[in-house]
Amino acid sequence: MRFNPFNPQLPARPDFFVGREPEIITFEKYLVQTMHNSPMSLSVTGNRGMGKTSLLMKFEQVAKENSCLVVRLSNYESNIKDIIDLCDFIALNIKSEILSKKKLERLGEWVKAFKPTLGWNDFTLTLEKKQVAQELFRQKLTKLWKESKPDFKAIVLLIDEAESLEKVPGALTFLREVFQRISSEANYMVVLAGKLNFPEKMSESFSPLNRFFPAQKLRSLSQQEMKEYLKRKLNPENLDITDEAVNYLVGKSEGHPYVFVAMCYLLFDSLNDEDSLIDSNLIERSALKIKSHLAKDFFSPMFHPLSKKAKEILIAICTNSKKNEFTLKEATKWSKETSSYLSPYILELLKRGILNKPERATYCIFHTLFLEYVLEVKDD
Ligand SMILES: Nc1ncnc2c1ncn2[C@@H]1O[C@H](COP(=O)(O)OP(=O)(O)OP(=O)(O)O)[C@@H](O)[C@H]1O
Ligand SMILES: [Mg+2]
Repeated sequence: MRFNPFNPQLPARPDFFVGREPEIITFEKYLVQTMHNSPMSLSVTGNRGMGKTSLLMKFEQVAKENSCLVVRLSNYESNIKDIIDLCDFIALNIKSEILSKKKLERLGEWVKAFKPTLGWNDFTLTLEKKQVAQELFRQKLTKLWKESKPDFKAIVLLIDEAESLEKVPGALTFLREVFQRISSEANYMVVLAGKLNFPEKMSESFSPLNRFFPAQKLRSLSQQEMKEYLKRKLNPENLDITDEAVNYLVGKSEGHPYVFVAMCYLLFDSLNDEDSLIDSNLIERSALKIKSHLAKDFFSPMFHPLSKKAKEILIAICTNSKKNEFTLKEATKWSKETSSYLSPYILELLKRGILNKPERATYCIFHTLFLEYVLEVKDD
């Protein structure tokens, strides 16, 4: 078996990471502020597979190079039902990271003895109780900062899949309040990453959440970045690629990181052992495989959970929209529905990342290959 240098299931390793310079520069600026006792936080938002986790790993590398303690949180959806769970989860993870960095052997012991912040049963968060929780959490965070201070310049909390925190009532506002209030005594920087909804609400773009976690919206990779990525991946494998094949990958993927890496993986997968060239022949041979894998792994899980009506509307849009871009007025014509009837379904499609809204009143389907997929499954 030949080793495939591409892996769409894993976030990019920092040495194969390309692009995102503006986001990295912003992160570096905010990090310097934080290290100099003037903490700043931010958020990273992007649709599925746009490279959020990869970017967090890059941030982690940068922060560690700057002598910061980094705590990356993810996969907590089932563990966090409320704000108290969130406080405990964050404090526990920071403490574990401090202990592991100090190479103390008492880690296991400490984790076992960890007591939740408050006994929690059916404790509803009245304003008063929320203030108690805030106060206790702040004390705990301040204590953790004091412990870290001799060894680290800041504590960077990278919270991935933060869209699940948006579903916990009041959680993001709570985080903002806590980290804003301790900013004068502790150097914490918080980075939220996910398919976040709060930055999307135009009318609230100056809301406290948007100001405290200014959103960096991830865009498609550029041609140059994709070419750089291919070079870095293929050179060590002694593989060549024709310009035609590069243009095919760059064009068809439209710069969507997951689609791009998945296509590279599947192309490589179709190479024979003795082959050392990726060319149009190979592309032809693997076209069907690429199509069916993207349908199964990426497009179908986005399409099938949609409501029946949203599917019908999406199909009407895909059938009629020639250039992948359309206005609300066109959508009403194609679906034969009024705009007020359509609005909630358009919102559903936006929330799921199937539609993007590049400008006011203009929408586009997130990927042409997805549009083609919809046209193929519409009669099933
Ligand atoms: N800047 C980048 N450089 C190189 N490869 C990247 C970059 N960003 C993303 N990728 C690749 O794209 C794929 C998806 O990236 P990643 O998992 O980071 O996306 P995500 O936004 O976290 O996805 P999800 O929404 O599923 O959590 C991975 O295979 C990753 O290697
Ligand atoms: Mg991710």
